[in-house]
Amino acid sequence: MYFDAIEEVFKTHDFNSVMHFAGFKAVGESVQFPIKYYQNNVVGTLFLFEIMQKYNVKKLVFSSSATVYGNPQKVPIDESSPLSATNPYGRTKIIVEDMLRDLYQSDPTWRIAILRYFNPIGAHKSGRIGEQPNGIPTNLMPYITQVAIGKREKVFVFGHDYKTHDGTGVRDYIHVVDLVRGHVKALEYLDSHEGVEAFNLGTGKGYSVLDLIKTFSEVNHVEIPYEFMNRRSGDVAISYADPKKANELLHWRAKYGLEEMCEDSWRWQRLNPNGYED
Ligand code: UD1
Repeated sequence: MYFDAIEEVFKTHDFNSVMHFAGFKAVGESVQFPIKYYQNNVVGTLFLFEIMQKYNVKKLVFSSSATVYGNPQKVPIDESSPLSATNPYGRTKIIVEDMLRDLYQSDPTWRIAILRYFNPIGAHKSGRIGEQPNGIPTNLMPYITQVAIGKREKVFVFGHDYKTHDGTGVRDYIHVVDLVRGHVKALEYLDSHEGVEAFNLGTGKGYSVLDLIKTFSEVNHVEIPYEFMNRRSGDVAISYADPKKANELLHWRAKYGLEEMCEDSWRWQRLNPNGYED
């Protein structure tokens, strides 16, 4: 069924590149329903690659994730850091990355950019395109915006005994518009480069959960109540990128800082209190 639907697109349209964004991304859900994750993220993707080969479309930008670094041995994390998965979701990303390296090995006319996203947040400046999670948000920023809009009472901060500057988990938050710009740059890069390359898309800066909550409160003048909880299983203390490879080879650099990420996330939520249902 998937196969026919994807093939239909290739039959009826003429194009030379694919950006593959489709996939499930909730870690907890992947532990509960691994088959669902392997089916969609791996099997669906396999079909896509098979059809790309059949129609001789061999230029690809693939959405991977910083999750492929598992529990990183050192930060900042560069692309040569060892890959490991702590859950089925992470494993699906590593499997697809491995498939792509095998594919290139077998046929060097492929041009593949693997983009390892750190923590995308923010929204389009227009306030018209933003993030609408299904059900209760599992990621931090959509949880914060739903507290700000009054949908949820407070943010539960998972762990405050990490070895970080304030005890809460540190991540490399990146504005979604910067992430988009990274994709355009990757596609341009592939115009003149064969091969398979992985790139970190991150800012290179780490912020804690409390940094994010406080910045959000300050720039948007809204109070965000929070409560400390136990650590969430599977979480790492600190993760942030070394984005040097993307800076140098893709001529890409994140432009937006944490304040703009917070302003833009809030603008979208404020204009769309019930998400796209409005
Ligand atoms: C998670 C996934 C990652 C996935 C990404 C996008 C893990 C280990 N990683 O990243 O693989 O690609 O989401 O879906 O799950 N936090 C709270 N309270 C909350 C929510 C989060 O304190 O209600 C904390 C977390 O403990 C973490 C930080 O906020 O320290 C960021 O969490 P989150 O937004 O879920 O992203 P990651 O866990 O980094």
